[in-house]
Amino acid sequence: MSRAAELRRLVNSYQLSQAIHVAAVLGIADLLADGTRSSDELAQATESDPRALYRLLRTLAAFDLFHEDDNQRFSLTDLGDALRSDAPESVAGWAAFVGRRNIRDAWTSLEESIRTGENAFKLAHDVSVWEYRAQHPEESEVFDRAMASSSKLVIRSLIDAYDFGRFGTIVDVGGGNGTLLRALIDEYPELRGVLFDQPHVVEGVDLGERGTVVGGSFFESVPADGDAYLLKWIIHDWDDEDSVAILRNVRRNGGALLLVDRIVEPPNEGPETKLGDLNMLVGPGGQERTLEEFERVLGAAGYDLVGATPTASGMFVIEGKPAD
Ligand SMILES: C[S@@+](CC[C@H](N)C(=O)[O-])C[C@H]1O[C@@H](n2cnc3c(N)ncnc32)[C@H](O)[C@@H]1O
Repeated sequence: MSRAAELRRLVNSYQLSQAIHVAAVLGIADLLADGTRSSDELAQATESDPRALYRLLRTLAAFDLFHEDDNQRFSLTDLGDALRSDAPESVAGWAAFVGRRNIRDAWTSLEESIRTGENAFKLAHDVSVWEYRAQHPEESEVFDRAMASSSKLVIRSLIDAYDFGRFGTIVDVGGGNGTLLRALIDEYPELRGVLFDQPHVVEGVDLGERGTVVGGSFFESVPADGDAYLLKWIIHDWDDEDSVAILRNVRRNGGALLLVDRIVEPPNEGPETKLGDLNMLVGPGGQERTLEEFERVLGAAGYDLVGATPTASGMFVIEGKPAD
């Protein structure tokens, strides 16, 4: 492929992303979990237009998500298997989220965002992602499932790299629907966990005997008595001022601070982190940070940086301790 053709493929990649999103929403991979099915059968099962669905499936087969035989029958490939909702490292929840109209509309405002430095989601919708999700319960659920799905991709790497079992009680601040905390409680038989997030997010979550669920806002306070405060994919959602405000509320309780985020790599490296950073500009209005930037934010909130543990997934466990 020429460099120009390569570039053209990159330019068109949002179209492919949207096609995968539709396949995820229709649950095509789940329908293929037990074996090959014809395009017409899949159209019937998903109440789709047979010809249009066939065109979607053959496109995705050309990108190796499915395999198409000579009779318009489709099966899952290794790649497409991760689109099953119950795949061990399922991408289904994330794929179902990224193509939502409210997210697409925010990305459409990227140019204005780059020109002004303003958050694209707010430019597109007049409210923050959190206000929007509070007003649209379905979008909140889709987002929470996307976070749970994305968490599953990294949880093993976190546990392999960092000993969370040395704490008695971990408070997961902004822990979503508890996917990470549940995994930690299952991994460490002595560990107790407190899940803390917005009331509508944690409503109905049950973490069993060793888990407690608390609703509230981390801009007001966070539950006391944690030996460690875990914030996974929280600080990257916010600018420095809001990050410091959240961390000061955490700091009031003492305990170790464990941030799970990416760390921005040197120039020309780390495409996932840097695209993730743009995603923060577009979505919640936050940013990915270098380790020095994390250290500054921690310092302003009353923490000393202890270190950053790398993990196989590219996430880091960034540890702080209350400054003397
Ligand atoms: C990017 S998600 C990360 C969720 C989870 N930690 C994970 O890694 O999957 C950010 C979380 O912050 C929560 N959040 C946003 N504003 C909050 C607030 N004011 N108080 C508590 N939680 C909040 C959201 O509800 C969401 O669950």
